[in-house]
Amino acid sequence: MSELHAVAHKMVKKGKGILAADESTPTCTKRFASINTDSSAESRNFYRNMLFTTEDIEKYISGVILFDETFHQSELSSGMKFPEYLTSKDILPGIKVDQGLEDFSPYEKLTKGLDGLSERLEKYYALGARFAKWRAVITPGDSIPTDDCILANAKNLAKYARKCQQANLVPIVEPEVLMDGSHTIDESFDITSRTLNMVFNQLDEYNVSLEGIVLKPNMVLSGYNCSYQATIREVAEKTVNCLLRNVPPDVPGIAFLSGGQSDDHATFHLNEMNKYETDWNLTFSYGRALQQSALKAWSGKEENVTDAQEVFIGKVKANSLATVAGL
Ligand code: 13P
Repeated sequence: MSELHAVAHKMVKKGKGILAADESTPTCTKRFASINTDSSAESRNFYRNMLFTTEDIEKYISGVILFDETFHQSELSSGMKFPEYLTSKDILPGIKVDQGLEDFSPYEKLTKGLDGLSERLEKYYALGARFAKWRAVITPGDSIPTDDCILANAKNLAKYARKCQQANLVPIVEPEVLMDGSHTIDESFDITSRTLNMVFNQLDEYNVSLEGIVLKPNMVLSGYNCSYQATIREVAEKTVNCLLRNVPPDVPGIAFLSGGQSDDHATFHLNEMNKYETDWNLTFSYGRALQQSALKAWSGKEENVTDAQEVFIGKVKANSLATVAGL
């Protein structure tokens, strides 16, 4: 267990955070379409290579979450497989292991991927992965989310987390309450609270060692279409209160997802939350908030790589500072 605990602590070390670069191929294709760039195995390899080879990222990034395709691709100048390359830079390689969403009911989703999971985890560990990720999606709306759906997702997260720890991989436990919609911040608080409560009950039920996980939750925000948008201070206060109510102190760290917020909001919310005293290290595990401006700067053109890397490291540094309330 001590290897797991050490890895979990390293993932959320003060001043560092996690880069989520594990967009599935369809999601990556959508992102590339927004910059009029073809999505192929080669272009995806090139783009991820650009991010991972950015000078100095290892000073601010503790781990990178990879998609299976990238996990087996190589850094372009050395030819090293990405897990080996990242490890050589003292960055922990992680792997997305859920297999996406299926309908739980007409309006709710359940994350799948438990079949054959233990075998896959063993292979990923042998190839250098040190942590994994599983994302559950909770959808706010009319009479949803239901307790049944939250419970089914919490159970799958706990089963996944248990299997990860048996395979010596730290599970990132990601229950994401979506912020698309017109729900108020107080509704977000209630739904996030119900969700986290059920997740920690199930983690306990399945004997998951909390010191060997990283929690990746949403921040508690006003729904993006809500007429009142909470201030940065309100978001920080409500998110921290929600966590204090539901997350045991043994969890070493909480690495937020950005969930479609603007880059600046994601950074300033994190900075504000780090002004509170808590038992956990509060950091980032952002996909879009770290990548979207770099993706635009790149626009699929080789001659833009240096500029895009500069934009990218700027975002990475700002969020590193936010983990110590340094902005
Ligand atoms: P976003 O930060 O873009 O929400 O992505 C994080 C992630 O890993 C989603 O599963």
